[in-house]
This record gives sequence, structure tokens and C-alpha cells, in this order.
Amino acid sequence: MTESLTTENVTVTFDGLTALSKVDLSVPKRSVTGLIGPNGAGKTTLVNVLTGFQAPTAGRVTMDGADLGAKPAHKIRHLGIARTFQSGRLFSDLSVVDNLEVTGVGLGLSRRKASAKAVEMLDWMGISSLAERTAGGLPYTDERRVAIGRALMLEPKYLLLDEPAAGMSAEEADDLSRLIARIVSEIGCGVLLIEHNIGMVLKTCDDIHVLDSGKIIEVGPPAVIKASEKVRHAYMGTQVETEGEVL
Ligand SMILES: Nc1ncnc2c1ncn2[C@@H]1O[C@H](COP(=O)(O)OP(=O)(O)O)[C@@H](O)[C@H]1O
Ligand SMILES: [Mg+2]
Repeated sequence: MTESLTTENVTVTFDGLTALSKVDLSVPKRSVTGLIGPNGAGKTTLVNVLTGFQAPTAGRVTMDGADLGAKPAHKIRHLGIARTFQSGRLFSDLSVVDNLEVTGVGLGLSRRKASAKAVEMLDWMGISSLAERTAGGLPYTDERRVAIGRALMLEPKYLLLDEPAAGMSAEEADDLSRLIARIVSEIGCGVLLIEHNIGMVLKTCDDIHVLDSGKIIEVGPPAVIKASEKVRHAYMGTQVETEGEVL
């Protein structure tokens, strides 16, 4: 069996609005899976389902073959599924290193071990210089990187990134792309990358799922997604740049 984080037939309705409709998605270990789609397509709702923040109305989530059932978010994090949020959600009054340490303690490490792990993680990410900065005062892109560092505490099996490159320059997005490649090769995570920066998704992902109005309309490697009429149609009326081309 290939190790993966998977949704089967997942549907989510909010008071009559169908946010997700029978979604099958698979995030294999040690690879980067992309999730793209116009605003309101259901991408964040799907991340919420995968991480226990939202119970599916129907369908199920499995990790490495085991049903996650109706476990709450903190239990799912303990099992090794970590995420970042569209808004950073750091503890804004704490220093960067304390943000990571508190997460480590929340995951069951002693304060001493959590502290050592936090220092090690910032070093691994190359952002040790931010350690003593107050999280609330960080520029946006640094805040994003710290949020990823926090999600990586205790080396999760799966990491879900909800629009991590939003607001980044092309160079910063390239740095992030390289960091994601290291997360896969050095930590062995399966990564789900949700992004509006389609150029970055095409460059970074092994396989890409496309959501439109709650339904998966296409799945495939970057070349297939780039050539897809269905995907082009879903984005019609929105301008999406793909390395100089408009998808
Ligand atoms: N908690 C909620 N209650 C009601 N409607 C919601 C809720 N969360 C999301 N939605 C709706 O579900 C749809 C999908 O939203 P979302 O998953 O945030 O899309 P995306 O992340 O792709 O932009 C939207 O129509 C949104 O308004
Ligand atoms: Mg979203």
C-alpha cells in the first residue's frame, strides 16, 4: 500500500450550500500535491476536513489506510497531519522561538526538549536570525515561514499549506519552492500545496488536483493541467499568470 492522506467521496454542505461534492483526493508521502481552483472553490474547506477542523457531511478521510473518523483537530495533529492557515495565526505576543516551543509543548514534549527542537527547526529553515523577534511584528513573508516552521515541529507525516506564497515576490516564492522540496526530501513529508500562484504550483508539484465549485474537475501532472481545456474554462474571466502565459 502506498502511504497517503486521502479523502474518499467527501461532501461538505453549509446550510444548503455545497462547498465540496464527492471529492476524492490523495496526497502521497514524499511528494508534493497541488490543489488549485478559483476563489470559493472549496480548497480551504478541504484542508479543514483533512485536519479535523471541519467534519465532512459525507465521505471519509484516511491516513496510510486508517480511517481518521471524527477525531478533533488536536488529535489529528498528534497523528502527524500539520497545516498552516491562510492567515498566519501565530501567537503574536510571543517571540518566534517561543511560538515553536509552545507548539512542541502542546504536542507533548518537555519544555527543555521543545526549546531545543524549536532552535533546531529555525536553524534547519535558515531563519535563526528571527528567533527573538516578536511574531506580531514580523513582515508578512517571514510570518509565513515561521508558520511553516511551527507546523514542522515533531516532523509531521503530512503538511498542508494554505496559500503560503500569497503576497510574496517571485524570488520569495522560489525560495519557498526550494524549502518545500527540502521538506519532502529531508523530512519525508507528503505536502499538499494550495496556491494561487499557478506558475509556482506547476514548478513545484508532482501531481495537481483542480477544484471548481466543490468538484474535482481535473487531476494530473503539471503538463496535463497546463493543457487542460476544463481548467482553462474554470479560470475564465480570472487572469492567472503561468510563467508569462495566461492559463
Ligand atoms: N464555515 C462556513 N460556513 C458557511 N459557508 C462556508 C464556510 N466556510 C466556507 N464556506 C463557503 O464554502 C465555499 C468554499 O469556501 P472555501 O473553502 O473557503 O474556498 P477557497 O478556499 O477555495 O477559496 C464558499 O462558498 C464559502 O463561502
Ligand atoms: Mg481558501
